Amino acid sequence: MIRIVPLTKELVPEVAAVEAVCFSEPWSEQAYLEACDKEDYLYLVAVDETGHAVGMCGLIIGLFEAEVMNVAVRPDYRGQGIAQKLMSALMEAGASQGVKEYTLEVRVSNLAAIHVYEAHGFVGEGIRPGFYRMPTEDALIMWKRE
Ligand SMILES: CC(C)(COP(=O)(O)OP(=O)(O)OC[C@H]1O[C@@H](n2cnc3c(N)ncnc32)[C@H](O)[C@@H]1OP(=O)(O)O)[C@@H](O)C(=O)NCCC(=O)NCCS
Repeated sequence: MIRIVPLTKELVPEVAAVEAVCFSEPWSEQAYLEACDKEDYLYLVAVDETGHAVGMCGLIIGLFEAEVMNVAVRPDYRGQGIAQKLMSALMEAGASQGVKEYTLEVRVSNLAAIHVYEAHGFVGEGIRPGFYRMPTEDALIMWKRE
């Protein structure tokens, strides 16, 4: 049974480990520790029945919109609806903070992630050419508006 909980400092080492296996340019443990302290950062973690982190996602809340960040699920836990569950919880948490518009960037080849974002109302609105490194790739810019 997967539960979605707020990010805490105790979970940071495991979350950073999930990040490291999921991204070619991962956030550091320090970056996640700082995320715990920032009021405009809203980070959620998917934990398994033993309380271990298996995925996470975040929201950086700005003046006019919030940016969805660091959506990832450990490879051995993918395909079970965990990213969908994380995104549902993130959209609920954002709404409770008064967020009206969300944006994010995603690699154009990342069809699984794009599918998840579309399921939560995100629409592709543009391309940022060569945005990603390792490997170089265009970003699809997606928005979810009221
Ligand atoms: C993207 C990612 C978070 C998805 O996590 P997940 O827990 O496996 O996702 P879920 O099981 O909740 O949902 C995946 C959905 O994508 C669909 N999907 C999977 N592969 C797909 C593909 N190649 N094309 C289209 N849809 C696809 C699944 O059918 C499922 O759809 P459904 O919910 O309608 O049944 C995970 O693959 C990951 O961590 N990738 C590496 C990090 C990353 O790229 N993050 C996104 C950064 S923007």
